[in-house]
Amino acid sequence: MLGLKLPTDPRWVNIVEKNIEDILTDHAYCEQKATSTAISLIVSFPEYTELVQEMVALVKEEISHFKMVHDKILENGWTLGRDRKDEYVLQLITFFPKGGSRTTQLVHRLLYAALIEARSCERFRLLSEELEDKELAEFYRRLMVSEANHYTMFLGFARQYGDRKEVDKKWNDLLEFEAEIMKNLSKSETIHG
Ligand SMILES: [Fe+2]
Ligand SMILES: [Fe+2]
Repeated sequence: MLGLKLPTDPRWVNIVEKNIEDILTDHAYCEQKATSTAISLIVSFPEYTELVQEMVALVKEEISHFKMVHDKILENGWTLGRDRKDEYVLQLITFFPKGGSRTTQLVHRLLYAALIEARSCERFRLLSEELEDKELAEFYRRLMVSEANHYTMFLGFARQYGDRKEVDKKWNDLLEFEAEIMKNLSKSETIHG
């Protein structure tokens, strides 16, 4: 599924279940960052009209996800906590060398976004299948469907704007690199931890 080379260890869900407040907090920030990424792509690449149009739609969708998660936090009687570093993303975005043409930079950012969406989608699917709390499981099932569409959209734009063969090679290399990062993760109550 999703081309990922290493599935998440299902025991990660047991860690998450012990601390729903932390996972929801981390998750809320993932949605906020997804919103910010979409805005930032608009600002950096305004001449890519089709991308701009899709990013506007994405901003609305991701901020509505943020609200869904925030509402869940409030329903439980909690208050949104502070953001934490996302080690997974910080490591992932070191893969491609900085610089290059505008198109190259765009392709790299689209591939990072596609991968983060794909891994989030895989994590949401696991939560939707394994969580004891059936209401929360259903919440994650609905989000999983959205994130799968985002993954396809980002990868599709990368292939559309870059050289198809080159992009496919980069995507595959990035997937390999991501699998290496994942080997040391699945140990904490964060969406990518
Ligand atoms: Fe989202
Ligand atoms: Fe997304």
